[in-house]
Amino acid sequence: MDIGIFIPIGNNGWLISENAPQYLPTFELNKQIVQRSEHYGLDFALSMIKLRGFGGKTEFWEHNLESFTLMAGLAAVTNRIQLFATAATLTLPPAIVARMASTIDSISNGRFGVNLVTGWQKPEYEQMGLWPGDEFFGTRYEYLAEYAQVLRDLWGTGSSDLKGQHFTMSDCRVSPKPKADMKLICAGQSEAGMAFSSKYADYNFCFGKGVNTPTAFAPTAQKLIEANRETGRNVTSFPLFMIIAADSDDAARERWEHIKAGADQEAIAWLGEKGAADQSPGSNMRQMADPTSAVNINMGTLVGSWASVARMLDEVATVPGTQGVMLTFDDFIAGVENFGQKIQPLMSSRQHIHTLQESA
Ligand SMILES: Cc1cc2nc3c(=O)[nH]c(=O)nc-3n(C[C@H](O)[C@H](O)[C@H](O)COP(=O)(O)O)c2cc1C
Repeated sequence: MDIGIFIPIGNNGWLISENAPQYLPTFELNKQIVQRSEHYGLDFALSMIKLRGFGGKTEFWEHNLESFTLMAGLAAVTNRIQLFATAATLTLPPAIVARMASTIDSISNGRFGVNLVTGWQKPEYEQMGLWPGDEFFGTRYEYLAEYAQVLRDLWGTGSSDLKGQHFTMSDCRVSPKPKADMKLICAGQSEAGMAFSSKYADYNFCFGKGVNTPTAFAPTAQKLIEANRETGRNVTSFPLFMIIAADSDDAARERWEHIKAGADQEAIAWLGEKGAADQSPGSNMRQMADPTSAVNINMGTLVGSWASVARMLDEVATVPGTQGVMLTFDDFIAGVENFGQKIQPLMSSRQHIHTLQESA
C-alpha cells in the first residue's frame, strides 16, 4: 500500500481546536516534514489550496501558503518522494497550470503531479471576484472536464485547440512537455465528481470515515469501481486519515478527547454553513461538519497504540480498489517520526519499505 502525507500548508494543520498545537505554516516546517517522510520511504506528499479561512479563536486556515510555489521549493530539496500541488481551477488558467507543472517536473526530475479542485467554499473566490455564481455548484465538473482535457492535450502533444463552453484554445502551446507521465488527482465524491475522476484522473482521494473504523470508506471506493466500469479505466482510491497514536490505546484516546474538548466552535460553525451550500447529489461536504469529529473535519481518525494504528492501516489496504492512504497528524514532526519508527515497521502492507539512509 502506498502512503502519502497531506502536509500542513495552512495554520494548525487539520485540527480546529484550541487544545491542538498552534502554528503557522512555513517552508521550513514543511521541508522538515517532507524530508523526514522521504527518509522513511513515504511515497508522496500533497499540499492543498485554501484561500480563505474559517475564523474563530484559532483563526483556522486564515494563514495558508500557496500550493505550487511551496511544492516547487520542496521539489528542490527532495530526491525520491512524489509531490502533488493543488490547482484551484477557478483562479488559474489551465495553460498556466500546465506550464507550472512542466517547470516543477523539471525541478523534481519527474516527481510531480496535480490535484484538481473545483472549489466548495464560495468566499475563497468571491473575495477576488472569481465566483461564477451559485449555478457553478451544478456545473463545476463540466468546467473541470474541459480544464483537464486542456492539461492532457498540452502535456501529451504540446498543444491544445479545444473549443469548449468554458475554454477556447487556439493552437495553445506548452513546451517543454513534462518528462514524466503527469498524474492527476481529483477528490470528487459526488456522483459527478466520481464520474469525472474515473474519466480524467489517475487517483481519486476521499475522506476516511469515523473513528477507528478503517474500512468505513469502502462504499466510496466501491462507487469509484462502478464509475470505472463505465470508462474502462483503473482509477484507484486513496482515503484520508488522521493518526493520533501513543504508547498505549488509553494514552492516545486521552489525547484525542483533549483535542476534541478544545474544539473551536466558531470556526466549525463556518465550516458547516459553507459546506452545506453545495447540494449536489452525494457531495461529502456535509460530512465535514458532522458533530462526531468536526474538530478534524471528519476526515476519518485512527486513535490508538502504535500496534493498533498499524493494524487499522493494514485493514485500509484490504478495501477493494484502494491503492494507498494519505495521512495527517496532530503533531506532524513527531507524527512522521513515530510513524516511521514505530508504526510502519509493524504494518504488513509496508514490509517492502527499508528505511533509507539519511542523505549526507
Ligand atoms: C484529500 C482531499 C483533498 C482536498 N483538497 C482540496 C483543496 O486543496 N482545496 C479545496 O478547495 N478542496 C479540496 N478538497 C475538496 C474536494 O476537492 C471536493 O470538493 C470535495 O471532496 C467534495 O467532492 P465533490 O466536489 O465531488 O462533492 C479535498 C478533498 C479531499 C478528500
